[in-house]
Amino acid sequence: MSDLLTVRDLRVRFRVASPVKALMTGMKDPFIDAVCGVDFGIAEGETLGLVGESGSGKSTIARAVMGLVPAASGSVTFDGQQLVGLPNRQFNRVRRDLAMMFQDPVGSLSPRLTIRSLVTEPFRIHGAGDRELDQEAKRLLEMVGLSADFGRRFPHQLSGGQARRVGVARALAMDPKLIIADEPTAGLDVSVQGEVLNLLARLQRELGLSILIITHNLNVVRHITDRMAIMYLGRFVEHGPTEQVFHHPRHPYTEALLSANPEPDPDAASSRVEISGEVPSLMNRPTGCEFHTRCPYVGDRCRHEAPPVTQDDHGRAFTCHYPLGDRQAAE
Ligand SMILES: Nc1ncnc2c1ncn2[C@@H]1O[C@H](COP(=O)(O)OP(=O)(O)OP(=O)(O)O)[C@@H](O)[C@H]1O
Ligand SMILES: [Mg+2]
Repeated sequence: MSDLLTVRDLRVRFRVASPVKALMTGMKDPFIDAVCGVDFGIAEGETLGLVGESGSGKSTIARAVMGLVPAASGSVTFDGQQLVGLPNRQFNRVRRDLAMMFQDPVGSLSPRLTIRSLVTEPFRIHGAGDRELDQEAKRLLEMVGLSADFGRRFPHQLSGGQARRVGVARALAMDPKLIIADEPTAGLDVSVQGEVLNLLARLQRELGLSILIITHNLNVVRHITDRMAIMYLGRFVEHGPTEQVFHHPRHPYTEALLSANPEPDPDAASSRVEISGEVPSLMNRPTGCEFHTRCPYVGDRCRHEAPPVTQDDHGRAFTCHYPLGDRQAAE
């Protein structure tokens, strides 16, 4: 199956100090690489989960795909079209097929607009009449499991779960092919989280949507994604089919994240690994393998030599000199 979205060697840099400040403080490089050479694809109807600690670059990938921050290099191909460097007018046409749910759903809804106006905004821009808007609002709200009455409410009158549903309805308005959901369950009660996830999973089944979901919640990843990628300091350290990654992580960082997961997993390896130490600063990346400062299995080589990407035969890629499994086999 060919991919709907293909990202190759994507890099995003941010300036973190003005040229004057950089000069005065003797800063060598006033930029950070928030995303540092990332590769992935999402097929039609597929869900990819992106996980990693705060600041690892997850939202920046989403924003770069949406054209909201410029890529420093690399390519983003969506539905056969190269998006990096695409002039704004052409990008707007592509953007209809690409919908984004932002990290803060209530904050991203204008407080003075009714839910009806919010979900039908794209249709109003295209000059739809009042009756048509009513019908569209009803259809979209029904799709996300809200009654048409919600159309008359304002964002502050919604619960967290309802606001999230409205976010999904807005994302669906243009009949997109890909939805990017940035932390769609953050801040919700566990039961409501389940509702929002079931909603996304159902829409994916019914509409054949592709989904890129960003989350800290590994249970979410396990339940709704086909593939997952684990980010550390702007890079993927491991990437592969979700069940395989959970069952048999190859990268020590993946193992540490999975073992910090509160959901007990009877199939997981019994040894619990704690993830110690602070995330290093992007201004001062560690030498060699960038995870070596926190890795429980660090060897001398890891301090000096950056590990290459290893691909296995099952669609798994990881970046480690001493991947798990190999080590166990050698012991
Ligand atoms: N506009 C910007 N200017 C400068 N630095 C930025 C900008 N946006 C993000 N960053 C930095 O880039 C890095 C990655 O940020 P990003 O928001 O992508 O992380 P994240 O993985 O989404 O984190 P979280 O889980 O907290 O949402 C961080 O160090 C952040 O401070
Ligand atoms: Mg984020």
